[in-house]
Amino acid sequence: MAKLTVRDLNVRGKRVFLRVDYNVPLEEKDGQMVITDDTRIVETLPTLRLLSEQGGKLILVAHLGRPKGKREPSMSLRPVAAKLADLLGRPVAFVDDCLGEKVEKTIGIMQPGDVLLLENVRYYLEEEANDPGFSEKLAKLADVYVNDAFGAAHRAHASTEGVPRILAQRGGQCAAGLLMERELKFLGEELEKPAAPFVVILGGAKVSDKILVIDRLLEKANAILIGGAMAYTFRLAQGHKTGQSLVEPDKTEVARAALAKANERGVKFLLPVDDVIAVPAKTDKLNKKGKPVIEYKDVRLNHDLNCPDDAAGLDVGPATVKLYSNEIAKAKTILWNGPMGLFEDKRFAEGTYAIGKAVAEVTRKNGAKSIIGGGDSVKALKQAKLGDTVSFMSTGGGASLEFLEGKILPGVAVLNDKN
Ligand code: 3PG
Ligand code: MG
Repeated sequence: MAKLTVRDLNVRGKRVFLRVDYNVPLEEKDGQMVITDDTRIVETLPTLRLLSEQGGKLILVAHLGRPKGKREPSMSLRPVAAKLADLLGRPVAFVDDCLGEKVEKTIGIMQPGDVLLLENVRYYLEEEANDPGFSEKLAKLADVYVNDAFGAAHRAHASTEGVPRILAQRGGQCAAGLLMERELKFLGEELEKPAAPFVVILGGAKVSDKILVIDRLLEKANAILIGGAMAYTFRLAQGHKTGQSLVEPDKTEVARAALAKANERGVKFLLPVDDVIAVPAKTDKLNKKGKPVIEYKDVRLNHDLNCPDDAAGLDVGPATVKLYSNEIAKAKTILWNGPMGLFEDKRFAEGTYAIGKAVAEVTRKNGAKSIIGGGDSVKALKQAKLGDTVSFMSTGGGASLEFLEGKILPGVAVLNDKN
């Protein structure tokens, strides 16, 4: 059922609760938090412009990181307000809270078209708990609800689920923003009956993250191409040696079942035929998550389906790129989720970049529809400067995956249906 969208609303003079996903990557530079990728902000601009031009008073609500109910200064949305004002070319007010007197006062003096960003809603534990009292307080701030936060739509939190439910009960309209509409179109409608050949490229670290998507797409895809560390769990399932590669030994049964289903349904299911391997060594340095940084030495090509005991597989090799590119070149529809290797390290980025180029080429030459399912694959495409060459790049990570698995997203389900 299609959802009501911002195009269906009349927001003149009304207070619009606009949930956006401004959970953007930040880095500290000279004591300041700097946004390193503003895509999620840029992608909401059409919705903001439309609602502002129509005279709505825009109250933007968002989260940043996972502060777990604490006022974590590094997770403040203040730098986002400044960035948004820049991009929008108009002032954006900011209040360092999402509730209370200051917020109410600021909203009270807003004029039609004004834009206000509230502080990180996850500074309150009640947000993630979808607390009814908290939702009630937030809902009181607005007349109309708009969700443009596709990336957070898989969360049943107060700002994504509780608030719209209460507003709808009060007779307020709850609609999808333009970004939300586009995400649902490309990841939903376009993949409902995809033009054949439909080629699915899946990568990333874990089979367990992708197995539900694989299972569902085996019903529709003509070919599934596997890369990333998850390929090694498939190799393990086939009885090969995987050395130090990242594997999930408890997922070999699941991998075997996917291979069997592909066989039954006549879906081409391709695994890498060569790879780039290296010898990993733990260092004394710790990464952001407090785990030892691993250095890779002795990088080389491996043509054997078995990995040497002391080495790990980190990228697909040139023969795999050729094999996969041939499949991609025939496609009319492509869905890609997950990188082919550890692309953050240049030595292991070639495979992912080459697959990106193949996807770009079939999009340009054959008018294939290419849909990139968010997260790391989007990051990799941008790193390869191929961002503008595909039909659609999702702004969702976990949300895209859950949606592709066929799950109902609570933040979407709660919106009004179009009549
Ligand atoms: C994301 O970045 O995936 C979304 O903003 C959701 O964030 P979360 O995984 O912390 O809920
Ligand atoms: Mg996430």
